[in-house]
Amino acid sequence: MVATEALKKDHRLIERMLDLLQNLAKKFDQGGDVPADSMKNISGFIKTFADNYHHGKEEELLFKAMEERGFPREGGPIGVMLIEHDEGRGYTRALAESIEKYAAGDNTAKKAIAENARNYSNLMSQHIPKEDGILYMMADNVLPEPFQEELLKKFEVVEKEKLGEGGWQSYADIVDQLAKEIA
Ligand SMILES: [Fe+2]
Ligand SMILES: [Fe+2]
Repeated sequence: MVATEALKKDHRLIERMLDLLQNLAKKFDQGGDVPADSMKNISGFIKTFADNYHHGKEEELLFKAMEERGFPREGGPIGVMLIEHDEGRGYTRALAESIEKYAAGDNTAKKAIAENARNYSNLMSQHIPKEDGILYMMADNVLPEPFQEELLKKFEVVEKEKLGEGGWQSYADIVDQLAKEIA
């Protein structure tokens, strides 16, 4: 397996969460409720898995390796990805804040949750295919397989550091659980 395949595997899990975010927004629009603990799992997944872990691997390892092989950091496709990561961080922060309020019993936070969940989901739904279809292909063209094997080993270290004891699978379990709660 090459490193970009591991990143695509992350994408498939993140996409399941993006669908759940749309469901959540619809549910709140219709006056429904979701347990506070589930809401905290949603913000935990987006903050830790999608941003810190997945975007972290892209920014610190993959994009950096591409930059070392001549891809510009600004103005090209990497620059666009970085801007979108930053935009996503804005929604992630706003979503986490409104989830905190909701968990503390403030039902007026539901409107902001629905709005930020939708914005984040829409943004990432068009960000991910650009990476899968264009950027990772560019990476595969310039990063030889032995180098990608090295990257994979580094990804494993990052997984331990950032996802803790249960690693990748524990976040897949969170998504499975949430899928039952936010049908
Ligand atoms: Fe990305
Ligand atoms: Fe990505």
